Amino acid sequence: MAVPYQITSAEAYQHAYAKSIENPAAFWADIASHFTWKKQWELTLDWNFVEPHVRWFLGGQLNITENCIDRHLESLGNKPAIIWEPNDPEESHRVLTYRQLHDKVCQFAHVLKNNGVEKGDRVCIYMGMIPELAIAVLACARVGAIHSVIFGGFSAQSIADRLQDAQAHFIITCDGAFRGAKDIPLKSVIDDALIACPFVERVIVCTRTRTPVSMLKGRDVWWEDEIKKVETLGLHNFEPEVMESEDPLFILYTSGSTGKPKGVVHTTAGYMVYANYSFVNVFQYQPEEIHFCTADIGWITGHSYIVYGPLSAGATSLMFEGIPTWPDAGRFWDIVEKYKVNILYTAPTAIRSLMGFGTAPIEGKDLSSLRVLGTVGEPINEEAWQWYHKHIGKENCPIVDTWWQTETGGILISNLAGITEAKPSYATYPLPGIDPILVDENGNIIEGNNVSGNLCIRHPWPGMLRTTYGDHERCRQNYFATYHQLYFTGDGALRDEAGRYRITGRVDDVLNVSGHRIGTAEVENAINMHAGVVESAVVGYPHDIKGQGIYAFVVYTGGHQSDPQLTRQDILLTVTRAIGALAKPDKIQFVSGLPKTRSGKIMRRILRKIAEGEPGQIGDTTTLLDPNIVEEIKSGVIN
Ligand code: WT7
Repeated sequence: MAVPYQITSAEAYQHAYAKSIENPAAFWADIASHFTWKKQWELTLDWNFVEPHVRWFLGGQLNITENCIDRHLESLGNKPAIIWEPNDPEESHRVLTYRQLHDKVCQFAHVLKNNGVEKGDRVCIYMGMIPELAIAVLACARVGAIHSVIFGGFSAQSIADRLQDAQAHFIITCDGAFRGAKDIPLKSVIDDALIACPFVERVIVCTRTRTPVSMLKGRDVWWEDEIKKVETLGLHNFEPEVMESEDPLFILYTSGSTGKPKGVVHTTAGYMVYANYSFVNVFQYQPEEIHFCTADIGWITGHSYIVYGPLSAGATSLMFEGIPTWPDAGRFWDIVEKYKVNILYTAPTAIRSLMGFGTAPIEGKDLSSLRVLGTVGEPINEEAWQWYHKHIGKENCPIVDTWWQTETGGILISNLAGITEAKPSYATYPLPGIDPILVDENGNIIEGNNVSGNLCIRHPWPGMLRTTYGDHERCRQNYFATYHQLYFTGDGALRDEAGRYRITGRVDDVLNVSGHRIGTAEVENAINMHAGVVESAVVGYPHDIKGQGIYAFVVYTGGHQSDPQLTRQDILLTVTRAIGALAKPDKIQFVSGLPKTRSGKIMRRILRKIAEGEPGQIGDTTTLLDPNIVEEIKSGVIN
């Protein structure tokens, strides 16, 4: 049952890698031939990184849901596709077999059609982690609509920005979502967002929390009522829309170093092939195994390794509604025991937070089903790696440290579980088809080993982004203009004596807070919206659990409010309104001015050193407009 392109030894990896670099198009064409196509492609790859222009499997036609569902029905119809564990351990779990998933996706595809959704329409999905979220995503793909999932932690303002950017006329949401002890009123947030989005024609609301909601006549309908209509009409199978290889599959918004988040666009065939190939090989998925990725489908990790990767491979994907620490810090381990999870894929921030509870929550839990552990989202520190290895893997499970990005569609650098060797805090080697290189500030390629530099990728791979929605120039500027003919990742990395990569973190003004990407400019814009704020500068600092914390230096001119504690709270609320609670600064220091050059540029390097608690390393300040300001800021630093 394993696919023929599953790599089963270190030698086979070497061999596949060499082949993939020698002739990438032939390599990927061979893998793509194992999928279900409506029409075979004519040209495997057409590309240049100048525009950029990247097209895979040109002329091919397919539907990704046929590959994720229909093609498994005959042999795996009764196999669980999705197992869903609710937030509250007292509530019953749910299982959807491939057959049941097929029926639900078809039903909801009819609902979308009945509500006017057509091929190419953008549909925004703002839901909690319930099976209906996966069903909604797949139903969009089935009708050929472009889904744009927005994580449930984003504010009304953020949603409105994204709806406007994507010109999304359709929304799928829930009354509310359960997350730990919290109950998030999703529909009410959508209502606030829609004040600024009169173009939205239809909001489909799925029942989850029974939180009171207001349903606007003519615009809002209930998921359950719409399903009933489909049942009454006796509609069953929904013939999958025929899609071109390069038709957009989804948009996912992510932060950059400037301004508003950008809509990363992934297309159908290349993304599917890459999500599947990376899933099968990195985790070494075996038939009958249970794969548990703890991410939210609101992030790329959930798209690729809860939905598309596992389902395209006929795997069983476990979907969890809750959080690792509620009702207690043993929640993950209870789930592993309950379902005999084989693959656990989570984030370093979750591991560090659980480490803080000691080993008591693990005691007496049977974790012997675990075969592979994975991490993603940020560099994993050695201490967390060892804890994961010892206490969760019982020194018996390979850990895959998977480096990738929203833009890459799937994992680019990682060891392959049990096949190639792990090294703590190293993502190690690139997957076949991935050609990473390090460059210096001037774009010169850094050859050899034991070196560090900015991480770029040299040749297209099928899962890479194609554009940023509605603004191709922004895509070019962001990723392809820094270094000639290279995709620039925004990360720094080092390459050790054996050619293994260790990702050291962002080299741009992007923060990584608990594995979530946040632009400093975005947070500054939000803080500056507060009436009393003149200007602000935001930097990251090392945080024990989150990886990076957000430190804001704020020039504030009062108003009548002079209690700094209350002002801090007002600023936090402003940021929560503008972006969402996930972007709230951990520390706010009020300053009378910011360190600037004579030309008015904020010297972030200095602020970063102060926030990192290393004021001794500030260096030369003589070029500053007002060197005294540095002394003032240093003396007021918040530890
Ligand atoms: C950024 C991408 C890819 C899914 C989750 C985040 C950092 C990601 C690792 C890792 C070190 C990592 C990078 C990257 N990152 N994985 N294994 N080791 N850093 O997706 O929000 O697009 O963020 O996360 O800095 O650029 P994202």
